[in-house]
Amino acid sequence: MEALGLTGDEVAEVLATASLAPSLHNAQPWRFRVAPDRIELHPDPDRHLPATDPDGREARLACGAALFNLRLALQARGIRPLVSLLPGAALAEVRRGGRYPADEETRELLAAVPARRSNRRPFRDVPVPVAHRRALVRAVERERSWLHVVADADERYQVRRLVTKAHRVQTEDPAVRAELTAWTTHRAPNGGVPAESAGVLPAPQDEWALRDFHGAPRPPGKDYEPDPLVVVLCSFYAGPLAEVQAGQALQRLLLTATSLGLSASFMSQPIEVRQVRDELRRLLGGSVVPQALLRVGYGSPVPPTPRRAVRDLLLGG
Ligand SMILES: Cc1cc2nc3c(=O)[nH]c(=O)nc-3n(C[C@H](O)[C@H](O)[C@H](O)COP(=O)(O)O)c2cc1C
Repeated sequence: MEALGLTGDEVAEVLATASLAPSLHNAQPWRFRVAPDRIELHPDPDRHLPATDPDGREARLACGAALFNLRLALQARGIRPLVSLLPGAALAEVRRGGRYPADEETRELLAAVPARRSNRRPFRDVPVPVAHRRALVRAVERERSWLHVVADADERYQVRRLVTKAHRVQTEDPAVRAELTAWTTHRAPNGGVPAESAGVLPAPQDEWALRDFHGAPRPPGKDYEPDPLVVVLCSFYAGPLAEVQAGQALQRLLLTATSLGLSASFMSQPIEVRQVRDELRRLLGGSVVPQALLRVGYGSPVPPTPRRAVRDLLLGG
């Protein structure tokens, strides 16, 4: 499966890097078709979570994140990736756009790919420096998306209220609960969220309603940080292409955070529950489209999550 001038082994390494992207419940909803002149990115319908992600929006975000990793892996091999986002069955195709002299930033972001993890545990009570916050905003802008930083106390309160509201809707929905259970036990081969990656068990004093992945009991005094940096990744327009674009921005954001020593975890409930998503959008001014809500801070180390083998990601023909 040579492609873009790379050997079969190199292509396998590039795809393994792509698949280290984050995805809802670690479903890894991506597949690749490899041809000599291109690598195509496709969604994997078998890895779709219809109750939590009815429109496949989060699957496309995850595919966009995998696409960003793939771009980095090609750049590190001296290839300028020529990416076309597509409206059809394939989400994107990547061709060889000439030579790319890999720079320091590419190397740093690529080094962050295996180090990045969703960190659901309490963060240290240390504020994120303004310069780091600016770097995160810039990372998202570079991928033609928008990062809204939740800054003032009133907005924080409103966002927190929407998280709680959507969380309640989802915990009362048996289909959403069933998907969570299916992907948190080891039923999903080489996927899902293992117990070691869950945060701590929710407690009544928690301000932010994090999704409960059946975490460990919380040691006394180990509460969530009182003041995490909360950001909303947004696209400038709605629809599948914008979601793949936002997924690339998501991954540049997460890798930039990792390279700055920061951790992040998602609070997707208010974006997944449609009527709450509309409220969140209005709260942000009504023009940008919220795609991911994250808390960012300084975390303690967490283990990696499993991934499928590259041979299981290949589409034939
Ligand atoms: C679109 C999207 C939505 C996600 N939503 C949540 C969420 O609401 N809560 C959460 O704890 N993790 C969420 N995650 C994180 C995934 O569970 C995580 O990426 C996956 O388990 C793989 O683990 P890793 O990120 O450590 O590689 C989300 C990830 C993506 C890409």
